[in-house]
Amino acid sequence: MTRVGHRRSPATGGCPERPERVVTLTPVCGIVGYVGWRGAQEVLVNGLRRLEYRGYDSAGVAVVDGRGELEVHRAAGPLDNLVAVLPEGGATGEGTGRGGTTGMGHTRWATHGPPTDRNAHPHRDAASKVAVVHNGIIENFVALRAELEAAGVELASDTDSEVAAHLVARAFAADPDAGLTAAVRAVVARLEGAFTLVFTHADSPDEIVAARRSSPLVVGVGEGEMFVASDVAAFIDHTREAVELGQDQIVTLTRGGAVVTDFLGEPARTRPFHVDWDIAAAEKGGHDFFMLKEIEEQPAALADTLRGHLVDGRIVLDEQRLSDQELRDIDKVFVVACGTAYHAGLLAKYAIEHWCRIPVEVEVASEFRYRDPVLDRSTLVVAISQSGETADTLEAVRHARDQKARVLAICNTNGAQIPRESDAVLYTHAGPEVGVAATKTFTAQVIACYLVGLALAQTFGTKYADEVAREYAELEASTDAVARVLEAVVEPARALARELAASKAVLFLGRHVGFPVALEGALKLKELAYMHAEGFAAGELKHGPIALIEQDLPVVVVMPSPKGRAILHQKLLSNIREIQARGARTIVVAEEGDETVRPFAEHLIEVPAVSTLLQPLVASVPLQVFAAEVARARGYDVDKPRNLAKSVTVE
Ligand code: F6R
Repeated sequence: MTRVGHRRSPATGGCPERPERVVTLTPVCGIVGYVGWRGAQEVLVNGLRRLEYRGYDSAGVAVVDGRGELEVHRAAGPLDNLVAVLPEGGATGEGTGRGGTTGMGHTRWATHGPPTDRNAHPHRDAASKVAVVHNGIIENFVALRAELEAAGVELASDTDSEVAAHLVARAFAADPDAGLTAAVRAVVARLEGAFTLVFTHADSPDEIVAARRSSPLVVGVGEGEMFVASDVAAFIDHTREAVELGQDQIVTLTRGGAVVTDFLGEPARTRPFHVDWDIAAAEKGGHDFFMLKEIEEQPAALADTLRGHLVDGRIVLDEQRLSDQELRDIDKVFVVACGTAYHAGLLAKYAIEHWCRIPVEVEVASEFRYRDPVLDRSTLVVAISQSGETADTLEAVRHARDQKARVLAICNTNGAQIPRESDAVLYTHAGPEVGVAATKTFTAQVIACYLVGLALAQTFGTKYADEVAREYAELEASTDAVARVLEAVVEPARALARELAASKAVLFLGRHVGFPVALEGALKLKELAYMHAEGFAAGELKHGPIALIEQDLPVVVVMPSPKGRAILHQKLLSNIREIQARGARTIVVAEEGDETVRPFAEHLIEVPAVSTLLQPLVASVPLQVFAAEVARARGYDVDKPRNLAKSVTVE
């Protein structure tokens, strides 16, 4: 068995194998478990606060109190509703003088049963001995529920999760000496679907047992205390030493350490890692919203993403399980991603085709596998995902692998499922992004796409080493350009946002690399300000969208540089004239010193001159600020737009 404990890191390493069966992924609830010496209730609630960004509709905690009894509290709605029903000072086992130091917490995103108190986790067995929290869907729960009911068990909720508590309670009761881990092992063998589960048993109060299939689970290794959570953010206040659990693994946590096995009880490989960001990175840093802080963090995110990837004149990825020959054999690239990551992917096409002279197709991941794309060993699929958990992208990766294509992941989350199932990985080191809307991870994805383009160009020999080094240096210089944009545009973008906050709709136009910027600008405004916003390739205007232009409609135009591609610049000036003639208000993002555009811009946002491929980095930033500020002016929660979750793990 693999033992994990402080100063006793497991000697094992490497990536677990790709799971053999494809499971349906599920909404990403937040899980945190604790066994140690602190008051568990406080640790758990703080952990849940750090997981709030995942999106949830109810929350709960279970603590084995000082009398060895389970205390469970749950509440639908925001975490504060839960806090309001918690005993002050924690679950202490009143009168015993001993605090509850073992427990688990959960934020739920409803799948089976509405988001009510009774459906919130943790769930218990009838005797209130076992508590469970669950992320996933137990697909055979109807049969299991029927079996329990036939045996006289009354279920207290509509959830699929509750069956796990009853089953573990029965397995434990049948053979208490075998212990909680054996009971959990017996039960998970019967479960179908995707599940990450954490259990505690009132009769075994000094341990918690967790099982992982599909949804992520990380162990935090402290001094005399252990944590388990969906994300390191839940325990980063207490420890930065972590161990990632692989698929189909069970971990038993006690104060002294962790024991990890597979579902059969055999020793399991795990991956220890050190979390290299601190808690300040997960806090708002003086801003009203995480998103505003994250926008400002972009120069650092870009620099961190680039750092260390040019070694001895060669671009290196973070992980590469492909030989140089396998890479040289690539003759076609697909980029698959969703939402903002898809917009980054659109920019990858410009760079890779330009530098490598190889065809690149970019596709939203949810469409990719259903149309039977032509894939083989010489196809490279680049999957871009901040979370690394997005179900559409993950399924696209699996489809590509099934067709023998090679997969390269660009991801911001160390050890997430998409990079684990890929042949090569480049991490965007943007740090945690708490705001639901992607900002710093978008620009970091763009830079990462360019790094992949350069890596391919050097492999194919379409760029010499000195050319690669020159491009890399330009990428590095972009961090300063973005920093200058931030200094210059935040205030004007804010003022503009206040002025336009009452508009009904906003259109965004761009050409060439400005087109994905227009799409991304529109997406940000839609998702944050709930305003109708559309991005168009400016040349498409005359093929339909121009009918939307009416008096005073704000139109944001992303201008190319007047230098590099003068023809494009000319064409966009014509587009601006067309929309102005129809009464539009023009907001123009243009290069500093572009005097030709000035007469056509009702509002001019100037950004530094950079090379064509880097223009999206400087042009996107003002549009991010604009969207956030419009949302704020309209009174919306910038970090948590309605109906959205940070990780979308349903198809
Ligand atoms: C928009 C946004 C989403 C994500 C999309 C993909 O601001 O954040 O559109 O980009 O859901 O998410 P990841 O990158 O985690 O796969």
